[in-house]
Amino acid sequence: LMTTIDHEKKRAALEAVKYVRSGMTVGLGTGSTANLMIKELGRQVANGLNIIGVPSSEHTRKLALELHIPLISLAEAARIDLTIDGTDEFDPYLQLIKGGGGALLHEKILAYNSDLVIIIADSQKQVKRLGSFKLPIETIPLATQKIIQSLTQMQLQPTLRVKEGQNFITDEGNYILDLNIKHITNIPSLNNRLKEIPGIVETGLFLDLADIIIVGKGESIRTYKK
Ligand code: A5P
Repeated sequence: LMTTIDHEKKRAALEAVKYVRSGMTVGLGTGSTANLMIKELGRQVANGLNIIGVPSSEHTRKLALELHIPLISLAEAARIDLTIDGTDEFDPYLQLIKGGGGALLHEKILAYNSDLVIIIADSQKQVKRLGSFKLPIETIPLATQKIIQSLTQMQLQPTLRVKEGQNFITDEGNYILDLNIKHITNIPSLNNRLKEIPGIVETGLFLDLADIIIVGKGESIRTYKK
């Protein structure tokens, strides 16, 4: 059964796919909203749309393969015309928190290297200021205990992400820490401080990366542009 939120995700996904043209190389995001977009692309590919997809995770790669969407890796792609991805939060300045699904590193590389980045979301992702969602960061396993100590001193309450009783492991073999950034006012400065800590590979703060955000709101959609 599809909930209101599912419908909002689907509306946003279908609207984003309208930006895709034959001949394009398209970055494929990760998560339940991105999955709806990938399914629609699969349907259109079956009807003759000629695109090449660049997956942002193992999960997305498998789904796109099942749908017979031609794929190349990020390393092979000469350029990426457009990436469509979901988000965990977005603010009025089109800044994002991503990584709820644990694919933030790959997703961020993809977004940075895309000519256009379209984010698709349901209305619950829209916030006045970032930080209700815990900020995911990706860490090298051997450095993680030391990073936890540093971040605890910074009052960020790091928690190591666990899945089925085991440490969650990213596609790149790293760990995820989820941070409480509710009290942080200067987000860009926090991002810089995090990236200065050795062993932090990437953060889920996607600053100045989104060009367009398409949000499903009840029966309608809203589009925000940079
Ligand atoms: C994946 O790592 C995340 O960045 C996703 O984009 C995010 O978790 C959104 O997922 P949903 O579309 O399932 O909410």
